[in-house]
Amino acid sequence: MGGLWLVIANIESKVIFMCGIVGYKGKRKASEVLLRCIKNLEYRGYDSVGMVTKDDKSLHVRKNVGKIDEVDKTEHFEQLNGNIGAAHSRWATHGGVTKLNAHPHLSNDGKIAVVHNGIVENYQELKEFLKKEGFEFKSQTDTEVIPNLIEYYIIKERNGLKDAVQKSLARIEGSFAVVVISQEEDWMIAARRGSPLVLGINKKENEYFAASDVPAFLEYCRDVIYLDDDELAIVYSNSNNPYEIFRLNDLTNIISKKEIKRIDWSVDQAKKGKYSHFMLKEITEQKYTIRTAIEQDHELIAKVTAAIKNAHGVFFVGCGTSYHACVSASYIFAHVAKRHVNVVLASEFRNHENFLKKETLVVAVSQSGETADLLDAVKTAKAHGCKTIAIVNVMGSTLTRLCDTSVMMNSGPEICVLSTKSYTSQLALLLLFAYSSAGRLEDGKKIILEACKHVDKVIDDSLEKLKPLAEKLHKQHDFFLIGRDLAYPSALEGALKIKEVSYIHAEGFAGAELKHGTIALIEKGVPCIAIVTKSTEKMILSNAMEVKARGGFIIGIGNEPNEVFDYFIQVPAASDADPILMILPIQILAYHLALARGFDPDFPKNLAKSVTVR
Ligand code: AGP
Ligand code: GLU
Repeated sequence: MGGLWLVIANIESKVIFMCGIVGYKGKRKASEVLLRCIKNLEYRGYDSVGMVTKDDKSLHVRKNVGKIDEVDKTEHFEQLNGNIGAAHSRWATHGGVTKLNAHPHLSNDGKIAVVHNGIVENYQELKEFLKKEGFEFKSQTDTEVIPNLIEYYIIKERNGLKDAVQKSLARIEGSFAVVVISQEEDWMIAARRGSPLVLGINKKENEYFAASDVPAFLEYCRDVIYLDDDELAIVYSNSNNPYEIFRLNDLTNIISKKEIKRIDWSVDQAKKGKYSHFMLKEITEQKYTIRTAIEQDHELIAKVTAAIKNAHGVFFVGCGTSYHACVSASYIFAHVAKRHVNVVLASEFRNHENFLKKETLVVAVSQSGETADLLDAVKTAKAHGCKTIAIVNVMGSTLTRLCDTSVMMNSGPEICVLSTKSYTSQLALLLLFAYSSAGRLEDGKKIILEACKHVDKVIDDSLEKLKPLAEKLHKQHDFFLIGRDLAYPSALEGALKIKEVSYIHAEGFAGAELKHGTIALIEKGVPCIAIVTKSTEKMILSNAMEVKARGGFIIGIGNEPNEVFDYFIQVPAASDADPILMILPIQILAYHLALARGFDPDFPKNLAKSVTVR
């Protein structure tokens, strides 16, 4: 078979899959399409960017360090010709942020180009092997072994591209989503193990995509196929045979049963639109996403409720922000459903293995549905025969495919690395299930919808008022946040938001806990955010007073002003939905702190939107 190949493959294990890859095969100029697509994935990695295309004659590669727009000014990606190609936005794991380490990486003979998301854990061993075979390496990346292994199998072992990719990927330990473009073939290969990869299908235009995430190609197509681990797709984009999908270990039998899913997100949802940052857009979207989250099918609510009620032991697991939503849920389940639920960080879940049996229910909470620690926890649960439910935002994500039942948060794409709208949707859903478990579903809905009436005003007021506060406090080295009861997880989440985006050290505490040690750090002017709910008012105000007595600058978030506050942010009382409203001003303060310190809130350093570092 002549012409161009696009080969996509994906490998599993320890991965930070924060980079973005995209492959295209169609009728248009690939470089123009790829540039648009990779821009949509820039949130996934922004160390360097690169592109390969293929025309009748050869492969064309351009790449450099920096954000896409900056690199495009010097590299002029759109000058690259051809209707097939791949692009990469890197989040470096192996090798510094340099032009040579940027993807795509080429084989020694220059005929194979690979973009890769993941980590080749045994790259040193493979490099040694290839060096002995006469191969040379230009970069310090782990990725460069992949195109060279493919060349090795094509040239030395006289395999065709398809077999060479299969054999190469079989030797890789670690994780990958790859797109492979060959100078000799008119099709591309994509494959995955452990890093996400989704095919985009535009049948009408006869063009096909492979990307780390759906927003990459949403403006071109909405029909997608989520590849599973150890699957490989060959994308021909011939009208009679557009693509074939195989198991990596069996390239003779095409998998016929892959479901094509229709994405209902709008293109605008995945774009910044009038907003200066995705973070701001997504914070603002909470004006409707919380409501949308609880518009769930009644049968699904009944199913989840029954699963919770019938379980012998319930575990809520998550990481980061999603874990904080689980902590919050544990309070509501205790108060409302009179039900003890275990809340465990996904990465620590295996320590609870002795308590897992088939009657146990594990509720996995996640925005992305791709967090490796969480996927491991669910696999552990399944190995013990437990029932599993996902509360998740990304349809088709690995988590949805692992769990018995999935409840979609329906928040639309969350592009900013920081979780904002997904957190409040998680809170709303978990609150709903606590109430439904108590046989009070309608009360739960009412409480959430009542809180929703205030979301607009809390967001608008905070956006207006908190900028000057951030400007006043942006040079501080520490923030402390205190809350009791339901406001305690809000303090944890608020601290995470401030740290992630402004890089100011922040810590959240249960109000009474501060005096057990950390109060030693309070001195004149140190900001302390006291989150005050009706039921905890007296106690938390005493804790705020203790901080103030040591010189702390007290920012109160609550229903009523109080003399202890040096600054006050008013938020209406919302009963068990207090955490939904209380977190909004802190998200906005964090956003303004980042801006005041000159940081781009959408590109927080060292962070990744979906993390699979174990
Ligand atoms: C949130 O702001 C962080 N990026 C991070 O803590 C995140 O919540 C965590 O990595 C879990 O991600 P998930 O919800 O996609 O599983
Ligand atoms: N490990 C590869 C590198 O460091 C890929 C990183 C990524 O997923 O962006 O280049």
